[in-house]
Amino acid sequence: MKQIDIMKKIGLFWGSETGNTEHAAGIIADTIGNDFVDSYNIRDVSPDTLAGYDALIIGSSTWGAGELQDDWYNFYGKLDSFDLGGKTVAFFGLGDQLSYGDYYLDAMGILYEKFIERGAKVTGSWPVDGYEYSSSKAVVHGSFVGLALDADNQDHLTHSRVQAWVEQIKPVLF
Ligand SMILES: Cc1cc2nc3c(=O)[nH]c(=O)nc-3n(C[C@H](O)[C@H](O)[C@H](O)COP(=O)(O)O)c2cc1C
Repeated sequence: MKQIDIMKKIGLFWGSETGNTEHAAGIIADTIGNDFVDSYNIRDVSPDTLAGYDALIIGSSTWGAGELQDDWYNFYGKLDSFDLGGKTVAFFGLGDQLSYGDYYLDAMGILYEKFIERGAKVTGSWPVDGYEYSSSKAVVHGSFVGLALDADNQDHLTHSRVQAWVEQIKPVLF
């Protein structure tokens, strides 16, 4: 019975170095409704926890020059033992488009590739209009593969972007 209850909720998994992605995850959970979301720091979870959800939201900031946030880096290899067929996933990413415009949100693109490879269905792509960057692994077929956030330069847009994105993904994830 407990298992069925968990399956109805969205599993939100985030990795955050200085708190920006954690903060955005909180806004996303609030916007969806906290009763419908279980939010986890990826640092603290086992692969089985993630595999327990049919609907997932995955968030990472990008570090180094286009690399995964450290806790996602540690978790990433574990995804190879997953069959993610039947799961629907929405991504969000945090990055700094002005200082790291050659690698803006690359981590979101790296995770997207891995989840696709493991069989997941992805929802929640996002337009590139309104961003200034030169290159991003998170752009596929002219759109970001998930919600693009930038707490360093466009923090004032975070709430409205989350609002619009949640409206888009909510009907698909439930
Ligand atoms: C040393 C350093 C490297 C960074 N590298 C990138 C990068 O390659 N691409 C990017 O989009 N943002 C990059 N950023 C920006 C962070 O991703 C951004 O500040 C983000 O909001 C941090 O989120 P967090 O606190 O959740 O980890 C970098 C920031 C720092 C300080």
